[in-house]
Amino acid sequence: MALTIPAIRRQFPLLAREDLTYLDTAATAQKPQAVLDAMREFYERSYANPHRGMHILAEEATVAFEDARKSVQRFLNAEHLEEIVFTKNCTEAINLVARSWGSQLKKKDAIAVSLLEHHSNIVPWFQCREQTGAQVAWIEIDDEGHILLDSLDRLLAKGDVKLVAITALSNVLGVRPPLEEIICRAHAAGALVLLDAAQAAGHGPIDVQKLDCDFLAFSGHKIYGPTGIGVLYAKREILEAMPPFLGGGKMIREVREDGFSPADIPLRFEAGTQPVAEAIGLRAAIEWGEQFTWKDRIAHERELLKRATSVLSGIDGVSLLGPRSVDERSSCISFTVEGIHPHDLTDILGRKGICMRAGHHCTQPLHRRLGIIASTRLSVGIYNTLEEIDRVGPAITDARARFA
Ligand SMILES: Cc1ncc(COP(=O)(O)O)c(C=O)c1O
Repeated sequence: MALTIPAIRRQFPLLAREDLTYLDTAATAQKPQAVLDAMREFYERSYANPHRGMHILAEEATVAFEDARKSVQRFLNAEHLEEIVFTKNCTEAINLVARSWGSQLKKKDAIAVSLLEHHSNIVPWFQCREQTGAQVAWIEIDDEGHILLDSLDRLLAKGDVKLVAITALSNVLGVRPPLEEIICRAHAAGALVLLDAAQAAGHGPIDVQKLDCDFLAFSGHKIYGPTGIGVLYAKREILEAMPPFLGGGKMIREVREDGFSPADIPLRFEAGTQPVAEAIGLRAAIEWGEQFTWKDRIAHERELLKRATSVLSGIDGVSLLGPRSVDERSSCISFTVEGIHPHDLTDILGRKGICMRAGHHCTQPLHRRLGIIASTRLSVGIYNTLEEIDRVGPAITDARARFA
């Protein structure tokens, strides 16, 4: 179905608020009615705890939860259903890998992360370092945010990198690292690859088999689904060899007085009552998105970012961060404005109903690399319009005048 933006907007109840211009989808996406309905319907008609009872509601809840897993498998083109683990969010998915897979690392081992990373793909590796003594090594970037492959090669050549953990799309610069190239080089050096797809999952197709990544993490709330649900994809043989992350009900095969044996994957990693309604909401979000083609979605978002680039670069004192070419950007554009702190700017914009984000966007090493403390980010989703982008220009000019 071609994108008809007014019709799409009507499917998002929150966007009926005429006082708002929502340009913060990189933080979290708004929810279409289909997602809200699916969750409400589950609570009203089929609600029970899955995998735990023999009664009809428990069976319906189990089917609904496992159907949600199937929709994620299709979304990622994973080969096996059991490669899909539900988590609370992308952050928890990465922590799962760091705590479980990472527990077998030794002092001489290293995890390579890039300077583009969100703190969610840095801090768990520092924690892994604290637990195991393994090193954290940095893959460098150029001034526009491109990964310096030479720097990756230098790290890999040492022979001790066991994992390359890298974003599939920067939440600040909107730049996409060359994943195929990175994965190929990492594998050739005997390292696994984890992709942080928190941003990428909402802005383009993902095919884990084609990419040949070993782990991939994303959050439901950034792809128009609910909060409280995320996904870890991991290759079956890797997941099978990993110890449980959290312990409790449902993740066990047997508990005895002297210990326990864990369940098979993926349940081994899903301790306790799961976010069932949220998984159903995630399925609804995936299916809602499937009515459109990625080609149309990408073209629409590119138009929005092109317009944002031209609006922002026309304002005195604005410096854009990231790649010079608009074609290299997805999802967002970040910038600084001379003479105004990003918090003051977004405060003023916020009073005009323009919702944008300011700060370090959980990427302090990236901001340090760029020589700044904070930036302002404009990010787009399927529902945004060119008119909304056009509102930003005069609002920033006005804010600048107040600080002159
Ligand atoms: C690139 C990236 N990675 C990870 C995360 C963490 O996502 P969550 O807070 O949903 O776990 C975010 C959130 O903004 C992100 O942009």
